Amino acid sequence: MRLKPLEAEYEIGEFDCGDEDLNEFLLYDAKPCMNLNIANTFILEDEGRIVAYFCLLNDKISRTEITGSRWKKIKERFPKSKQFRSYPCVKIGRFAVSIAYRGQNIGSKLMDLLKDRLIKSNSLSAFRYITVDAYLSAIPFYEKNGFALLNEKDMNEHTRLMFFDRMDI
Ligand SMILES: CC(C)(COP(=O)(O)OP(=O)(O)OC[C@H]1O[C@@H](n2cnc3c(N)ncnc32)[C@H](O)[C@@H]1OP(=O)(O)O)[C@@H](O)C(=O)NCCC(=O)NCCS
Repeated sequence: MRLKPLEAEYEIGEFDCGDEDLNEFLLYDAKPCMNLNIANTFILEDEGRIVAYFCLLNDKISRTEITGSRWKKIKERFPKSKQFRSYPCVKIGRFAVSIAYRGQNIGSKLMDLLKDRLIKSNSLSAFRYITVDAYLSAIPFYEKNGFALLNEKDMNEHTRLMFFDRMDI
């Protein structure tokens, strides 16, 4: 299996993760988002078949958006002089594994690869956290992969904001 960045000439073949929005994003929105520089997509391929994909963009977590007790815990991990109102993040905009490849731990392996690539890529721009707006059904998957809920504010929403601290690796 190979992880490739989506490129303009890449022909997006069949992909079904069981969620229409995520399927359609890959088919119709991934390239426009890339061209507009608002999200980059990466595809995991197995002999030409799409196994999974994710997309990434920049983000931040801010004191104003986070419930008090959680923000206190985040703040405590920084020295006093570096306790700011927000911290830089990379956001997972989409993350999906094909139904044909479920039950093989591929989602978790891909998450490890994503973290590894982000950390080793020696990016020009720093980030501390990885965030995701997780579908409720996928929360156990993200928890298993080291993410935690950030807020109680979004308790009644159809997605919940979760975060991973890269310093926990
Ligand atoms: C969520 C998803 C990416 C997980 O990928 P995966 O390859 O099935 O993940 P893994 O095999 O590494 O881990 C699955 C684990 O997550 C848990 N899990 C939680 N929610 C899940 C879900 N909606 N689907 C599958 N597994 C889920 C399972 O219990 C399983 O735990 P276990 O191995 O201890 O039994 C994949 O199921 C998927 O693409 N779902 C549809 C799209 C989606 O919900 N994407 C997330 C958008 S925020």
